[in-house]
Amino acid sequence: MEYEYFSLIKYIICENLCSSVVNKKMVWIIGCNGMLGTQVCRTLSEKNIDFTGTDSSVSILDYQVLEDFASGKEISCIVNCAAYTAVDKAESDVEFAQALNADGPKNIARLAKKLGCPLIHISTDYVFDGTASSPISESTPVKPIGVYGNTKAEGEKAVMAETDDFYILRTAWLYGFNGKNFVYTMIRAMNARESVKVVCDQRGTPTNCVTLASIISGIISKRLSGAKVSNGIYHVTDEGETTWFDFAREIFDMGVKSGCITNKNCVVNPCSTSEYPTPAKRPAYSVLDKSKIQKELGITLPQWQESLGKFINSPLFDKKRIQ
Ligand SMILES: NC(=O)c1ccc[n+]([C@@H]2O[C@H](COP(=O)([O-])OP(=O)(O)OC[C@H]3O[C@@H](n4cnc5c(N)ncnc54)[C@H](OP(=O)(O)O)[C@@H]3O)[C@@H](O)[C@H]2O)c1
Repeated sequence: MEYEYFSLIKYIICENLCSSVVNKKMVWIIGCNGMLGTQVCRTLSEKNIDFTGTDSSVSILDYQVLEDFASGKEISCIVNCAAYTAVDKAESDVEFAQALNADGPKNIARLAKKLGCPLIHISTDYVFDGTASSPISESTPVKPIGVYGNTKAEGEKAVMAETDDFYILRTAWLYGFNGKNFVYTMIRAMNARESVKVVCDQRGTPTNCVTLASIISGIISKRLSGAKVSNGIYHVTDEGETTWFDFAREIFDMGVKSGCITNKNCVVNPCSTSEYPTPAKRPAYSVLDKSKIQKELGITLPQWQESLGKFINSPLFDKKRIQ
């Protein structure tokens, strides 16, 4: 299914002029209904950047389907937000994870090259093994420790092999308004239970999808205006670092203040990764060094606590997801 979005006024003007809309230059958001994809659509809409979005019915697994979709449209940039994101399930679903995270991006990159447009592809901190002890730069060799990370690393390689005009944005610990995520899960659990246990020996940086979407839109705006943005791999998360346990404690404090947590007596307890075994191993340390993207775009990324506060207090915070 295809979704076309424009700023509200433009949409009202254009809604009866579909054929002219089709010939308009537009950004193509692949995976537009996912947690990040939805936010990218929202941000581009706010910035008055025309775009079209597709879900899994325009499958990235079939090059021809992608090419047919692009046919007759003027695609100015492709953003790939589609992926196999079930980290634990991937351990026993290797082929499908490989198809979505590596073969799909290869198809998209091949098409981007043919169309002559840039590709913004999203990757992950899970391409690293977690043995670092200071923020990880883009030049650090990848060394995934699970199927998800391995297939995402393969996806990065495939993108780089197919096109030169790419931006691979590695992000981490994402949460957003539209999707299952740690923040909603914690608030729901904190309201329902006397205590929750959260791992305290994995370090990383929680990242609001709004932050990543604004970086994506920043790259697109610059490119559309003809300004140069150097191709390459970039690390993009919110700033700072924490553990899942301290992240949960901050969610609790902010949730109580905002009123979305009413069970003020819930206790947040720490536990170790070994006490909470999961099918996939996770990196113990995956804080990313973001200096490259900040220098390239001339911006300062927000601290993760500031982004979390904005999320919890936003009118877009979905109260249905915490019941
Ligand atoms: N979530 C995190 O914590 C996290 C952390 C680091 C990096 N990332 C990366 O960030 C990106 C976005 O993640 P997310 O959490 O927003 O993902 P998500 O919510 O799981 O969304 C993934 C999207 O992929 C689409 N999709 C699945 N199969 C497809 C196919 N064959 N063809 C086209 N689209 C297909 C799905 O479309 P339907 O809606 O039609 O099912 C879905 O909307 C991914 O690259 C992920 O690896 C995520």
